[in-house]
Parts: sequence; structure tokens; C-alpha cells
Amino acid sequence: MSIPTILTIKEMRQLVWRWKSDDKRVGFVPTMGALHSGHLKLVEHLSEHCEKVVVSIFVNPLQFGPNEDFSRYPRTLPDDLRLLETVKADAVFCPNSSEIYPKGFQTIVSNKELSGRLCGQFRPGHFDGVLTVVNKLFQAVSPNFAAFGKKDFQQFKMIQRMVTDFCMPIEVLGMETIREQDGLALSSRNRYLSSEQREQAPLIFAGLNDAKKAWKAGEKTTAKLTEIFQLSVSKCNEMKIQYCDIVDSENLNPLDGIIEEGIAPVMIVAVVYNDVRLIDNLELGV
Ligand code: PAJ
Repeated sequence: MSIPTILTIKEMRQLVWRWKSDDKRVGFVPTMGALHSGHLKLVEHLSEHCEKVVVSIFVNPLQFGPNEDFSRYPRTLPDDLRLLETVKADAVFCPNSSEIYPKGFQTIVSNKELSGRLCGQFRPGHFDGVLTVVNKLFQAVSPNFAAFGKKDFQQFKMIQRMVTDFCMPIEVLGMETIREQDGLALSSRNRYLSSEQREQAPLIFAGLNDAKKAWKAGEKTTAKLTEIFQLSVSKCNEMKIQYCDIVDSENLNPLDGIIEEGIAPVMIVAVVYNDVRLIDNLELGV
């Protein structure tokens, strides 16, 4: 049987209401589609926590800047639905833009501290768009659990913060990054890479891994650790590091100098490779 596709908030709420009145716990995986094994892992993991899992597919215009890839973002709904058949998804929520942003829409969710940090420095408004849409999707689905990938570490942390700040009765789970065999983090945007770019792209994870090895061997100075990452990426002339920051994985506070004992650092990077922007990160102490 094919998975029910829900188009409106009203229908979504009715379905979840029926499940909940039947004592079923509901898990939720928000996505923008172009699904890959990273997305599917989130669904599989949630199925272990709850009886019903909803996946949303919505390419959110509010989180793309004017010169970003909103119009060329891959839209592959038939393939996505086929992939979701292979995991235990119970409904797919595919609202259109006017369902999420009806005429007159004007309220935005913003994080006073984190919206402008890390990726936020280079993508103004991006995280306000993410928080606003996830807030709306949470209103539509009212899940007990929601799963996010640590591939987007800043996004994951900011959603946890929003849920705490707004007293939402949702448990937010963070899932490890799923990678290709050569280390490249799976991403819907990897389709933009030419075959040559695809070959070079694992230098990003290799650099993160080198930094992690150095950390484990006792290197605690942020400048040295970032230098190690830079060295790996410098093997490809066309790859430009947009940023490489080491932050406290608890609160994303920047770390500079010698990292104190007891802090769990994460190295977060964005690399622009010709016109493709790739992000990745690694928790150094894990
Ligand atoms: P999207 O990029 O489609 O990602 C949906 C979810 O899948 C996010 O939680 C993301 O972190 C996770 N994910 C992506 N690649 C992953 C990988 N390689 N391993 C593990 N998890 C991975 O992130 C978004 O969409 C949007 O910003 C969204 C939250 C849906 C709001 O529009």
C-alpha cells in the first residue's frame, strides 16, 4: 500500500489527532526532499521510538537567499515517495507554499544569538527561515519526537534551542552524519558536483578527520587544528574555505586559543567549490 500523501495542515492535524487518540506516539522528520540514505536513516531511527512517523517534503523559500539555489534545488517527489516506501514512514506531508505562507503572513522566528553565527554570517536570514518553517511544521504535525541530522549541526542545535525556549512538548533527536564510503557527507546538493568535483570533495572530511586525530593526540590549540583542516583542502585549488570554526558543541560558542579541559569541541566548516557550497563538521572528542 502506498504511503498517504497529505497536502493540507487541516488533514495533517486530523490524522495525527486520530493516531494520538489511539495512544500512538508520533515521530517527525522535516526535509526538503531529494531524499538520500541520510534522510532515510532519520526515519528508521524514529520508527524505533514511536509507532507512527511523518516525513515532510517542502522546499522552503524563506530559508534561501536571493542569489541562492531555491529555483534549481532538486525536486524529485516520485523518487522520494518510492524511497519512503522502503522505510517505515506512515505519512508524507507535502504542503504547497501558500499552505505554509498564506497571504498576509508576517511572523518570523529568530534566534537573537545564533542566527548570525557560523553559516548565518554568510546566509543572512537563512536560520530565521529554517526556524520559522520548522515551527510551522511542528504546529501542523504536533510530533512527540522529531529527528534532525548533525550534518547540519548548527540547525540541529538551534532547533533544540527553539523547542526549549518555546516550551514545545517535543523531544528533538540528533542523528550522526551518514557518509559515502570515501567520507563525503550525503547531501541533496551533492548532485550539483561534476565527476571531478565529486572526486575532490572528500578532502573536506579528510581534513576534519586529520584535525580530530591531532586533537586525540593532544593538540588543543584552535589555530593549529584549523591549520590542519586548511592543509587538506588546499590540495584542491578550486576549493575555497568559507569558514572553519571550532565551537563548543553545547552552545556553539566560539573557541579561540587553547581549548579548556571539559569542553567538547566541534569543528564546523563550509567550503565553496566553484559554485557549490558544501558544509560538514566533526565532534573532535567523540
Ligand atoms: P534537508 O537538507 O532536506 O535535511 C533534512 C534532514 O536530514 C535534516 O535534519 C538534515 O540534517 C538531515 N540530513 C541531511 N543530510 C544528512 C546526512 N548526510 N546524514 C544525516 N542526516 C542528514 O535541513 C533541511 O532539509 C531543512 O533546513 C529543514 C529542516 C527541512 C527546514 O526546511
